[in-house]
Amino acid sequence: MTKPDMRSCLQLIKPYQPGKPVEEVERELGLKGVIKMASNENPLGPSPLAVEAMKENVEQMHVYPDGNCYYLKEKLAAKIKVKPEQLIFGNGSDEIIACLAKTYINPGDEAVMVAPSFSQYDIAMHIMGGTPRHVPLTGKDFEYDLDAVLEAINEKTRFVFLCSPNNPTGTILRKQELERFIDKLPDSVMIILDQAYLEYASDPDHVTGLEYIEQGHPVISLRTFSKIYGLAGLRIGYGIAPPEVISEINRVRGPFNVNAMAQVGARAAIDDDQHLEQSRKMVNEAREQLTEGFAELGLKPVPDQANFCFVDLKVDSREAFQALLRRGVIVRTGDIFGFPTYIRLTYGTPEQNKRFLSNLKEVLDELK
Ligand SMILES: Cc1ncc(COP(=O)(O)O)c(C=O)c1O
Repeated sequence: MTKPDMRSCLQLIKPYQPGKPVEEVERELGLKGVIKMASNENPLGPSPLAVEAMKENVEQMHVYPDGNCYYLKEKLAAKIKVKPEQLIFGNGSDEIIACLAKTYINPGDEAVMVAPSFSQYDIAMHIMGGTPRHVPLTGKDFEYDLDAVLEAINEKTRFVFLCSPNNPTGTILRKQELERFIDKLPDSVMIILDQAYLEYASDPDHVTGLEYIEQGHPVISLRTFSKIYGLAGLRIGYGIAPPEVISEINRVRGPFNVNAMAQVGARAAIDDDQHLEQSRKMVNEAREQLTEGFAELGLKPVPDQANFCFVDLKVDSREAFQALLRRGVIVRTGDIFGFPTYIRLTYGTPEQNKRFLSNLKEVLDELK
């Protein structure tokens, strides 16, 4: 076929390998009740208030969404005590990452990020012809080394991506560390603080990001309704930043990038403190249950402040993945993060965790 050449910077992006829907896995393997503990979703589902609000609004779907998310913006701004002009919404926070790169990255520009971390940072940079620079997390607990991040910054650096709690390790950045880092950071570098799992972090020293934005630093905090709010299917996330930054990113945002149902669902979910509390409680209990279960198998997950854990199974995680899949449990393998004996496991309900643990025991006996 003759066609235009793909842009050369896209050669650096691995072709996307979509996972199969759970129903398809069940059909292929002849199984029922397959559980997915792979995508850091909330197994409790969405907030009942969000479900109710969406049902009430379904007959309004012939109307285009509000391109400015006016009511959602007002409501969220009041809740988290920022100005509405400091907020931007996206089709998931994924879209805001892409918009940031479109707004600020010229070919040859660089972004510093830790490894392992969320893959969309690399992709967003490559799409714009930019270069990601990776700084490894350190030690067995995958801690941030912000001095090493500083050393990796040069005159081409536009962004530093910091994910806290970090995907896939669940580790966090602490206020004192970030403060010292910001003081030394050149003014022309923006910090993209990805806080998709913020609501799960219980450490009082965990950064919120808002204090630095308030002080006028070029920081954007990215958050999402996909994780604790249980609305991943709606695709809605947001960024909080100084108004100048928001106004610049708005130039590249599509006119109706957040669908109307997502705006309705998110507005209602913001009010549901009970759902948030239940979700946190479930995750805290799951962490205890799984840590104990892993210990019985001689395994120790990386200490996390998220709704998932990263754990070294000490066997090939692709083989473990296949063996768990045959038993109806889907997890994320660590090879995609550069750690081929690790898996990332999303905390589930007590029954799901129990099932995972008994299956894992069988799988490890089989593979060792
Ligand atoms: C660290 C991190 N950031 C951002 C996202 C994107 O979330 P969404 O686009 O669903 O808002 C994810 C999703 O897995 C994530 O793990």
